[in-house]
Amino acid sequence: MIPIAQPLISDEEIDEVVKVLKSGFIAQGPKVAEFEEKFAEYIGVDYAVATTSGTTALHLALMALGIEKGDEVITTPFSFAATANSILFIGAKPVFVDIDPETYNLDPDKINNAITDKTKAIMPVHLYGQPADMDPIRKIGEENELWIIEDAAQAHGAQYHGQMAGSFGEIACFSFYPTKNMTTGEGGMITTDNEELAETARMLRSHGEGERYNHTILGYNFRMTDIAAAIGLVQLKRLDKFTKSRIENAEYLTTHIDTIGGIKSPFVMDQVKHVFHQYTVRVENGKRDDVKDFLGGLGVGTGVHYPRTIYSQKLYQDMGIVGNCPQAEKAASEVLSLPVHPGLSVEDLAEIVNLLEEVSEKFFNKEN
Ligand SMILES: Cc1ncc(COP(=O)(O)O)c(C=O)c1O
Repeated sequence: MIPIAQPLISDEEIDEVVKVLKSGFIAQGPKVAEFEEKFAEYIGVDYAVATTSGTTALHLALMALGIEKGDEVITTPFSFAATANSILFIGAKPVFVDIDPETYNLDPDKINNAITDKTKAIMPVHLYGQPADMDPIRKIGEENELWIIEDAAQAHGAQYHGQMAGSFGEIACFSFYPTKNMTTGEGGMITTDNEELAETARMLRSHGEGERYNHTILGYNFRMTDIAAAIGLVQLKRLDKFTKSRIENAEYLTTHIDTIGGIKSPFVMDQVKHVFHQYTVRVENGKRDDVKDFLGGLGVGTGVHYPRTIYSQKLYQDMGIVGNCPQAEKAASEVLSLPVHPGLSVEDLAEIVNLLEEVSEKFFNKEN
């Protein structure tokens, strides 16, 4: 079986975890501080705050900005549910704006229409590892005095016009879930240049404590452990190599897919570094699920990211939160992610391409 994702853990991560375990300091401690410092440096921001997950990073980012009940946050309906759920956690309302059908990211041209006097922020997602179109999004933010919160959960090391994802908005959030481009097991990170926001997020992640046992605001326990940070520090060192391999794998797949019919390879914007968290194709003619089953039956793992819009989830329907995003709905019925991770061998890639050629013949009657 060729899996859709595979965390790459070497002896170095294992050795570093063992050192932490033997140190006696296994909760949040010096390794977390070091990981925050190195991650901030990598992204090119002043501050990074580690958390238990990408979801809790988003939760704290929204809280730190002071967004609250009654406020609205504009976001994409074509993402993992955590993006919009984080807006619900704080009692605010996600307002869904449609995506660009080529990049699958928030369509900047459609944002203005969604702004009301309750809108406080725009939360773009850098989906699949390709940055959202940040220049127009930032311009809309500035013109309307809205915060930009980047959901960079899938975009470690991605760049837009030479600048790192995670350094564009007032605040940004990353995930280190095992399928992500780098992992800590579970984990997340907030990045920002704003000292006050970083300080508030630090307090919120630890029961609102500035000093120990001095609780000034209501917070949580969203602290990362030194065990997780030890893994993260090694993964961060390896990240550029992982990314290079993802990009090379994507290039190989695209070169071959573009010569076979029925399947559309991913579009990459100009002046963007797409880090291919996912390599997501479009399958035409309503055949996506058949292709998925066919590949799965022959040992190639695939994924559908995502099979429905967030607003069509029962949770959102029950809450009366609606959306009208035809491009996102169409994408949800056509997208299919193929393996692109750095654990793939040359043989794996050749096998995927072979099977896609069979797919083309079987489902689209196209010879090469
Ligand atoms: C776009 C996006 N946002 C948020 C999250 C939440 O991250 P986590 O699973 O670490 O809570 C994820 C990943 O799962 C994601 O892909």
